[in-house]
Amino acid sequence: MHYFSASATATLTVLSAAALTQALSTWDAAYEKAQESLQSLTQDEKAGIVSGVTWEGGPCVGNTYAPKSIAYPSLCLQDGPLGIRFANPVTVFPAAINAGATWDRELIRARGAAMGAESKGLGVHVQLAPVAGALGKIPSAGRNWEGFGSDPYLSGIAMQEAIEGMQGSGVQACAKHYILNEQEHGRDSMSSNIDDRTMHELYLWPFYDAVKANVASVMCSYNKINGTWACENEAVLNGLLKEELGFRGYVMSDWNAQHSTVESANTGMDMTMPGSDFNQPPGSIYWDSNLVEAVANTSVSQDRLDDMVTRILAAWYLLEQDEGYPEVAFSSWNGGKASVDVTANHGDVARTIARDSIVLLKNENQTLPLKNPASLAIIGSDAIVNPDGANACTDRGCNKGTLAEGWGSGTAEFPYLIAPLDGIQKRVASNGTKIVTSTTDDATAGAEAAAGADMAIVFITSDSGEGYITVENNAGDRNDLNPWHDGNALVKAVAAVNTKTIVVVHSSGPVILETILQQPNVVAVVFAGLPGQESGNALADVLYGDVSPSGKLPYTIGQSEEDYGITWVKDGANDDFSEGLFIDYRHFDQNEIAPRYEFGFGLSYTRFNFSGIQVNVDATSGPATGAVGVGGAADLYEVVGTVSLVVTNIGDVAGAEVAQLYLGFPDTAPATPPKQLRGFQKLALEPSANGDVEIELRRRDISYWDVAQQQWVVPTGTFDVYVGASSRDIRLTGTFTV
Ligand SMILES: *[C@@H]1O[C@H](CO)[C@@H](O)[C@H](O)[C@H]1NC(C)=O
Ligand SMILES: *[C@@H]1O[C@H](CO)[C@@H](O)[C@H](O)[C@H]1NC(C)=O
Ligand SMILES: *[C@@H]1O[C@H](CO)[C@@H](O)[C@H](O)[C@H]1NC(C)=O
Ligand SMILES: *[C@@H]1O[C@H](CO)[C@@H](O)[C@H](O)[C@H]1NC(C)=O
Ligand SMILES: *[C@@H]1O[C@H](CO)[C@@H](O)[C@H](O)[C@H]1NC(C)=O
Repeated sequence: MHYFSASATATLTVLSAAALTQALSTWDAAYEKAQESLQSLTQDEKAGIVSGVTWEGGPCVGNTYAPKSIAYPSLCLQDGPLGIRFANPVTVFPAAINAGATWDRELIRARGAAMGAESKGLGVHVQLAPVAGALGKIPSAGRNWEGFGSDPYLSGIAMQEAIEGMQGSGVQACAKHYILNEQEHGRDSMSSNIDDRTMHELYLWPFYDAVKANVASVMCSYNKINGTWACENEAVLNGLLKEELGFRGYVMSDWNAQHSTVESANTGMDMTMPGSDFNQPPGSIYWDSNLVEAVANTSVSQDRLDDMVTRILAAWYLLEQDEGYPEVAFSSWNGGKASVDVTANHGDVARTIARDSIVLLKNENQTLPLKNPASLAIIGSDAIVNPDGANACTDRGCNKGTLAEGWGSGTAEFPYLIAPLDGIQKRVASNGTKIVTSTTDDATAGAEAAAGADMAIVFITSDSGEGYITVENNAGDRNDLNPWHDGNALVKAVAAVNTKTIVVVHSSGPVILETILQQPNVVAVVFAGLPGQESGNALADVLYGDVSPSGKLPYTIGQSEEDYGITWVKDGANDDFSEGLFIDYRHFDQNEIAPRYEFGFGLSYTRFNFSGIQVNVDATSGPATGAVGVGGAADLYEVVGTVSLVVTNIGDVAGAEVAQLYLGFPDTAPATPPKQLRGFQKLALEPSANGDVEIELRRRDISYWDVAQQQWVVPTGTFDVYVGASSRDIRLTGTFTV
């Protein structure tokens, strides 16, 4: 019972956060109010509602003009995806990539709810999150950690939960970056050229879930798609998003991603951000008074401007922000000190997610959990907080001290940061373990500290972020997938002198671990991602077995970077997405490349048995025929069957397992990846306990995008059903025929 006590407490916190969600108004009701308010507005006020007031022109990173004729504020838009940027105190949650690694729908929702509550408390109307683009097709791409993992289904479920959590707390969510912004190099100039099927089955997929979850806003991205800027792309904005997906909210530009007055308006953009002129040479604020002029000279219709305003007002009414919404309680530009403390008990949520996202990769002879070693060497600069301060580098644009967020606009300021050494020291305080440290990355010093200790824990990192900051020669995207600061040499030196060496990895994405795994004395490897402010506490919870690790990789760890078959294109080049559907595990499976640790992999301190699979699917083949509503054709979301099974904890301690469902499509769906994730469920189980898993399949889960029919189509033939503990550890199989 000891093993689960911490979890039980945290689960209560999570449930109460989720229970605080408020009922949403409906889009129809919100549109009615918006259309009524629209009647009172002048043309200048309408242009003001759709235009930012310029960078640093208001307290938030984005602010619109407040009209006088109706009671509607200067909207406050603020980053970002793991906490509120430029404000303090706020909670720095684990990055979204860690939320994805929990594979825990309830925790992802709780994280969204807590972030949304902090936003609302600070008067932020629109929180610029969550992220489904980058989806993460390029393992070295800088911003993958802002999203939930390199699979569209996992990303889509996480988008839904995050949005429902955030909007349930009253803040407008913003699904971004729409779309195909898969790398940092050249993002402001490159074109992502993509075929229609890949667009639908990989990159657009999670935006379906976002729209279906009633997301208030979508952010168009910096790049071009098929040669046309994302923020003036008729096919992408009016076509896919507003017509096919039935999106009723508004499209805002990424910051300075707008390139025209008329084109952007007529192709479906609804709000320009931040409304200032970052251009070289200057001279183009595209909307504001220019939009009024464009309507006057009829190049943009009055209906289009009214539609923009209606969409923006409707989103505000949808979230009921017209009723007693707090005033903005901080300014981004003067240190961000908030006049209220909104952090509540969100540190508990952060700790739970950090803990449950830890992926145990290797654990020889049950080295972990630790059993009170007499002495423990803690090695590496990642074990401690940056001596200059946790927030010393602007937008976390350096890799000094423990790594708990990436860098760029998707960061927030730590209110405090529990480093691994802090967490471990606190945990062993009463147990008499002697701690020896070497808190630099110097291999000689590390080996000296480790030589006399019972066990050694070596901390290594790999960092990435947004391209406007270059860190240690990495311009956003990583130069390679190796550990930074010569982490391989540090591990080798320590493992040469200590027979029980444990490696802990903090990283924004996959790291090549071959050198480390070749050291016979490396007996355990713990992958902790980007865990946020509660890093050290969460790590100690797992290292000491207060809970079993239960995270699963949200991407593949290959044996080499070349094995992924994909890297970022250089500045000035375009990306033709020639790998098509075959990214991450789809690529490894298709080409029969053995990964080091496959997508979905993660060990536990206990063992699980899978049994009693039952597949019950009753679907008709052919295209979806439902009327388009919010989220697309209605019948895409109809449940057409279930896969059920029983998971039993057959080990000695409590733990949690993720039952993962993959489908193999019949050949009538041409050239489809061998296995695709189409369901998962996480269960926490005491020793000897079993739990029922029931995974529902929706029509879209058994459909592929048929380019000729321009529709999601259920193919005829026999589907293979694979259920397992990872994408390669398949425990049960079945079939169904359509
Ligand atoms: C991009 O171009 C490809 C090739 O012509 C086409 O199949 C696809 O539908 C286009 N997609 C968009 C969003 O324009
Ligand atoms: C109309 O006005 C807009 C904004 O000044 C300008 O960009 C556009 O070129 C004008 N179009 C015509 C046909 O005059
Ligand atoms: C693990 O246990 C086996 C069997 O006792 C032993 O042969 C092996 O050396 C151990 N491995 C390590 C790394 O201690
Ligand atoms: C540490 O000591 C406490 C108090 O003596 C004990 O309850 C706990 O089990 C010990 N922890 C470990 C990991 O042995
Ligand atoms: C484990 O699962 C298998 C089927 O996969 C089943 O035959 C066996 O009875 C199960 N054992 C336990 C202990 O549940």
